[in-house]
Amino acid sequence: MPTGFASRFYRLNILSFVGVSSLISPVLAQDRAAQFENLQVLPPDISQNDLGEVMLGNLRGLGLRRLAGEGCLFCHVGDMERPRDTWDYASDDKPTKRKARVMMAMVQAINQDHLANLETRIDPTHRVTCYTCHAGRTDPRPLATVLWEAYEAGGIDTAQSRYDALRGRYFGGDAYDFRGGVLVGIATRMADRGAFDDAIAMAALNVEVFPSEAAVKRPWVRLLLERTLNVSGVAAALDELDRMEPELAEGVVSPGLLDALGWRMFRQGRKPEATAILSRNLEKFPEEYIPNESMAFILRDRGELESALQVLEQWLDKHPNHDRARQLLINMRGG
Ligand code: HEC
Ligand code: HEC
Repeated sequence: MPTGFASRFYRLNILSFVGVSSLISPVLAQDRAAQFENLQVLPPDISQNDLGEVMLGNLRGLGLRRLAGEGCLFCHVGDMERPRDTWDYASDDKPTKRKARVMMAMVQAINQDHLANLETRIDPTHRVTCYTCHAGRTDPRPLATVLWEAYEAGGIDTAQSRYDALRGRYFGGDAYDFRGGVLVGIATRMADRGAFDDAIAMAALNVEVFPSEAAVKRPWVRLLLERTLNVSGVAAALDELDRMEPELAEGVVSPGLLDALGWRMFRQGRKPEATAILSRNLEKFPEEYIPNESMAFILRDRGELESALQVLEQWLDKHPNHDRARQLLINMRGG
């Protein structure tokens, strides 16, 4: 059984434990008595197996290849063209090894000094590991951050090809969140700085990836409308929606579509546009709650509190058990 330091720390499964000696032994079997030369975080008397387990935890956490020890070279000095017993595991020449040592001390501190001191634990045996943050990649930053960096560096084409590459390599694992919302966030951020063509291209890529998801198509339509709105005004944007609507799949033009666009305008201080859009939304969907609620907010913002309360009261007449409307009414009426 794996006992001792490494297993207490990393709690790796038995399978990885079994594989250790074959990875480590070419280096170590020659002199079993030899101590490791340069351990600063791990206990100096750690067994070969436990050390191997920790190193395999590093590989797994960072998504490095275990095959033929290739992943070890991310941190250790050596060369795939030379026998492994010539590799210099004790050397600190690689910055990645020096950083990994800091990481190991950090993980140790999180587990021993912080998690262990919680008053109760969901699971007292649960440990933070490299995988907790790295989830199978060396750079633990989230998809949105990585794509935005690519965009800033090389524009929309670079951002899109980075997305394709990451999706090709990591889809299905824990490493990146490939749900549609991430690209929507990035496209919206592009729109925020006025780069509408890029934003629409990003949203269109998302539609390519999720061709049948209304929730992904909606932001694409919203960005098209917003571009038109900026160039030709709010009436032109609403006309464009009327033209597009018959072509769009069911559910794309939902109450949330114009609602989102209206509140974007509102947040930008463009209240006449916001009002026009939210009013049209209420005309389109009088029987849905969202457009009614938004109208109540708009009216209150204009100082027309009585009309705002009326909208909610009328809604509640028709839907007496609607908690959200009831609670909003309580709030708007005040103490
Ligand atoms: C993510 C970086 C990283 C990877 C990948 C990694 N190691 Fe390490 N390794 C370290 C660090 C950091 C230490 C030093 C730990 C300390 O100071 O306590 C170390 C120490 C060692 C030592 C002890 C060297 C000595 O004499 O001081 C050996 C042996 C070793 N690693 C083997 C391996 C093997 C084999 C692999 C591949 C299966 C591997 N390591 C993968 C970071 C890594
Ligand atoms: C609490 C989250 C967290 C945990 C746990 C964690 N890391 Fe990291 N790691 C990071 C972050 C964040 C960075 C990027 C730091 C930077 O450069 O700004 C990073 C960077 C690294 C790097 C440098 C990568 C490079 O390309 O330069 C290595 C190597 C590394 N971690 C190894 C490990 C190992 C090994 C473990 C487990 C012992 C581990 N990390 C656990 C958050 C974590």
